[in-house]
Order: sequence, then structure tokens, then C-alpha cells
Amino acid sequence: MATYGANRKADDTINSLKGKKPVKILFVCLGNICRSPAAEGVLRSIVDSRGDSDAWVIDSAGTYGGHAGDMPDRRMRVHAQHRGYDLTHRSRKFRESDFDDFDLIIPMDSSNECDLHDLAPTPEAEAKIVPMMRFVTLATRYDHVPDPYYEGAEGFELVLDLLEDGCANLYITLNRG
Ligand code: 4NP
Repeated sequence: MATYGANRKADDTINSLKGKKPVKILFVCLGNICRSPAAEGVLRSIVDSRGDSDAWVIDSAGTYGGHAGDMPDRRMRVHAQHRGYDLTHRSRKFRESDFDDFDLIIPMDSSNECDLHDLAPTPEAEAKIVPMMRFVTLATRYDHVPDPYYEGAEGFELVLDLLEDGCANLYITLNRG
């Protein structure tokens, strides 16, 4: 079954990275102004709080380049700030060289994931794509991190709930050498 194969491939990728230093993580969404810069900020906060920043390279990018150079969306920054995250990333478009520069490329939803698979030049590059929800254990009706751009405050809070849970699990999983 395709899903079984994909899950096993993701597990193989994750297992191959346990204890790797530095491990290089790239979060990807559509605009790179809401979900992926928030994921970057949440994971960086976890890593920094453990004095582990030398062992991690963390970045984010968007499949759509229309916001390139922009700060994260003001609403995302405000909601993140309330939880103690300072989001300073500048939006950039995903580039093919990211497949060489990162170990794990983490899309937020299935549309981002499909776009990345289309862009991947080799099977080895494709194997680096592991969806964010692979790390989320929180009980939720979502199978993806939903785009909050056209939503209200709850949309941004939901994104942060999912990302805090997923990034904590990502950190634990990869740190377990
Ligand atoms: P993101 O949210 O993919 O989480 O950064 C979006 C930001 C901008 C747009 C869509 C989604 N947009 O269409 O401009």
C-alpha cells in the first residue's frame, strides 16, 4: 500500500538522522509567512532552551515566492509572541539546492508536500520529505497543519498548538542518538 511505503520511507529517513550533528531541518509551507516560520521559531526555542543550538540548523521556506523578503504575517507574530516566540525570519522561496543543503524537509500540508515531490530531482531528495503531521501526537481532527491565512485567531492558535507538539516530538526523536 502506498501509505505504508511512504510511512516506512519516512521512518528510515528519521532513523538515519538520529544523533547526526548538525542535523539540518527545513520547514516548508506556501507563503513562508505563517506556518513554516512559526515552526522554525518553535523548534529554535526548544533547541536553544536545551543549549543545543550548535547541533541544529533550522530554516524555513515557501513553495510560493510572492512574499519573499517579508517578515512573518503580523497575526502570526502576535500569537507567537504571546507564547514567547520571537519570529524574525524573512520569507524566501524554496529552491532546488535546499534538497542538498538540508537533511529533513518538512511540509505543513499535502499541497506543499506534492509540490516538493514534483521539485525533487532524485529519489534520495524525495526521501528527505517528511510531513509535519508525522511528528504530531496531539488529538486533532486535522491530518495537516491548516493554513491560517484566511482564518481568525483560533486558526493561528491551532497552528501553534500543532507545531509545539510536533516540534517537541521532532526534537526528542532526533536527539535520541
Ligand atoms: P503560510 O500561509 O503558507 O502558512 O505562510 C499563507 C500565507 C500567504 C498566502 C497563503 C498562505 N497567500 O496566498 O498569500
